[in-house]
Amino acid sequence: MQITTQMRDGVRVISFSNPPVNALSIGAGLVSGLTEAVAAAIADSTVRAIVLDGGPRFSGGADIRDFDTAPEQLTVLRDLLTLIEAAPKPVVAAIAGLCLGGGLELALAAHYRVAHIDTRFALPEVGLGLLPGGGGTQRAPRLIGAAPALDLMLTGRTIGGDAALRLGLIDATTTEGAVLEAALAALAPGANAQPRPTGTRPAPADLAEALTAARAGLTPEQQAIIACVAMIGQGDLAAGLRFEAVEFATLLASDRSRALRHGFFGRRTVARVPGLRAAAAEIRRVTVIGGGLMGTGITTALLNAGLSVAIVEPDDARRAKAGAGIAKTIRRDAEKGRINAATAEERINRLTLAASIVEAAEAELFIEAVFEEIEVKRAVFAELDRVAPPGAILASNTSTLDLDVIAGFTQRPEQVVGLHFFSPANIMRLLEVVRGAATSDATLATAMGFAKAIGKTGVVAGVCDGFIGNRIFEEYLRQAWFLLEEGALPQQLDAALERFGMAMGPCKVMDLAGQDIGWNIRKRRAIEQPDRPYSRVPDLICELGRFGQKTCAGFYTYADGRTATPDPQVDALIVAHSAQISLPRREISDAEIVERCLLAMVNEGARIVGEGIALRPVDVDIVYLEGYGFPAGRGGPMFHADLVGLPEVLAAIRGYQGGRHGWAWEPAPLLEQLVTDARDFGALNQ
Ligand code: COA
Repeated sequence: MQITTQMRDGVRVISFSNPPVNALSIGAGLVSGLTEAVAAAIADSTVRAIVLDGGPRFSGGADIRDFDTAPEQLTVLRDLLTLIEAAPKPVVAAIAGLCLGGGLELALAAHYRVAHIDTRFALPEVGLGLLPGGGGTQRAPRLIGAAPALDLMLTGRTIGGDAALRLGLIDATTTEGAVLEAALAALAPGANAQPRPTGTRPAPADLAEALTAARAGLTPEQQAIIACVAMIGQGDLAAGLRFEAVEFATLLASDRSRALRHGFFGRRTVARVPGLRAAAAEIRRVTVIGGGLMGTGITTALLNAGLSVAIVEPDDARRAKAGAGIAKTIRRDAEKGRINAATAEERINRLTLAASIVEAAEAELFIEAVFEEIEVKRAVFAELDRVAPPGAILASNTSTLDLDVIAGFTQRPEQVVGLHFFSPANIMRLLEVVRGAATSDATLATAMGFAKAIGKTGVVAGVCDGFIGNRIFEEYLRQAWFLLEEGALPQQLDAALERFGMAMGPCKVMDLAGQDIGWNIRKRRAIEQPDRPYSRVPDLICELGRFGQKTCAGFYTYADGRTATPDPQVDALIVAHSAQISLPRREISDAEIVERCLLAMVNEGARIVGEGIALRPVDVDIVYLEGYGFPAGRGGPMFHADLVGLPEVLAAIRGYQGGRHGWAWEPAPLLEQLVTDARDFGALNQ
């Protein structure tokens, strides 16, 4: 953290720097340093005006770490903003790079705002279950109108410098040169700049109308934002600011905000692999082997991320279909206005179609996405070993096979890694990076760097069947299907878990993914793990040829191929199955559905952490938040378990251990250990 000042023609330039994002940190002393500097400039009669200069990144906002360590100290930040706004000399914010959250609130407290056109502006606090607690709810509507300010605050969306100028959020933009010079020009003697506080402006003309606009399904933080904006109608800034501070404190203490902040830091924590010091090599050219659904999805993701990609598919018809499919997906983005047509064509031009690996042997990374059959993998990896350049990384997208066996097909197992993409790979953010027994640190570091470079959240997983995500999902589904034969019906099961917040209940998820996929896994499991049976319910559905959306029937029927309608025939089938296995059906509460499905996840998650398959509990949480539709406001299964309390979690698991299929409820050793030590999963994330 550093604050420097200089005098420029009677103007005190206060430059502040707190890398990497110039967070307005209380703990690191930035806020107190700025307060001193601003107070000194106000007191100094030789200073006629002040510039707040954040350098190339004005500010990424309040320091989110302060929220946990010393929430009460946030008043110090608010006092700084009040001091700036009330300054008897003009204060200009010189803005570049980032102007987010508390950073934008700092700019709003200044009297003028001059920004580089490429600056990104946002009030993203809703993403953390919070509201702009540094006067943003009071100042932004007064400056730009209630409706535009509510839009920014309720969505948290980012806008550029041109949009900010149009809204009146800033006074001027620069396109080249230092923004500091432009700020100084705004304070040149002839410009006649005067103090111009935002907070004392009258209520915006559209206040009443904007507040009554109908909005459905609001989160607690969105409701609180609206309540704060309504305070502007009373015309008393100080009262509005006090109200905002109270609302902010309430949200900050909520489980929901804690969960969202856990997710924010968790997404960054998973990128840190303890003990890994190797540098990541840059990847520019990638060869993807396999032109099926996964191969084309991966290829599309990589083209969108700016890489050059060759896709290898020996079958002529399949190769042509893959190429056409990729181009169509990319052009659809242009049709929807997400990118322009020239960008779409540039992306498509970086694609090469190849009939063999030899034709596409010039790459730094090879990603195999061929059929899930070990002999097919053997052929691919043996060939890759022969033709790939010496330093290249050989990756497998396998989700079910043993990566160490695959690595053994090559003479360079240290360069083999798993890259488990989720379908559709061009949309889903999660990427499990599987570290084999022989995977070198350099290979792992490059794979993690590659994940970041293509905009994915890479999570390191050890080798086991199902890695982190699918292994846990299997236990979740096992309970879901048992619940069906014990008394629940698909619509009740899904509704209970969706009310908890899951993006989709298990029956809908499997209908979407294709019931045949789960069926194949269960058939394999029946041979490998006969002692860990499943309910027959989903098999019975599959035996009717009901594979889900793709056959317009699964647990539900899909008249239009997409919309789920409960099917009495399925209900009857389930009820008949219970009778056949002589299981009296009983009333099952939604609470039991949620508890059993979640505890199954938590217990398996604890096992996975205990075995070292996941590096930390937070890695499990991020896999579930990013790849399995776990509700962001719940922070992931392990975070959720900490909130419930691990002694309670263990007691409930032991309770189920004494019931039907108790074998599935053997408590994970790590869970027992943590309870004995009176610790929680969070303690293992440090
Ligand atoms: N407070 C504390 N730390 C922050 C922070 C904040 N407001 N914003 C970013 N950081 C930290 C990150 O945790 C990360 O730390 P790490 O390197 O130890 O993991 C580091 O700064 C870099 O952030 P990262 O997100 O990896 O960099 P980026 O360049 O991709 O993105 C931002 C930068 C600012 C756009 C992004 O971090 C962001 O959106 N931050 C949150 C902004 C926000 O919500 N502000 C409102 C707070 S009230």
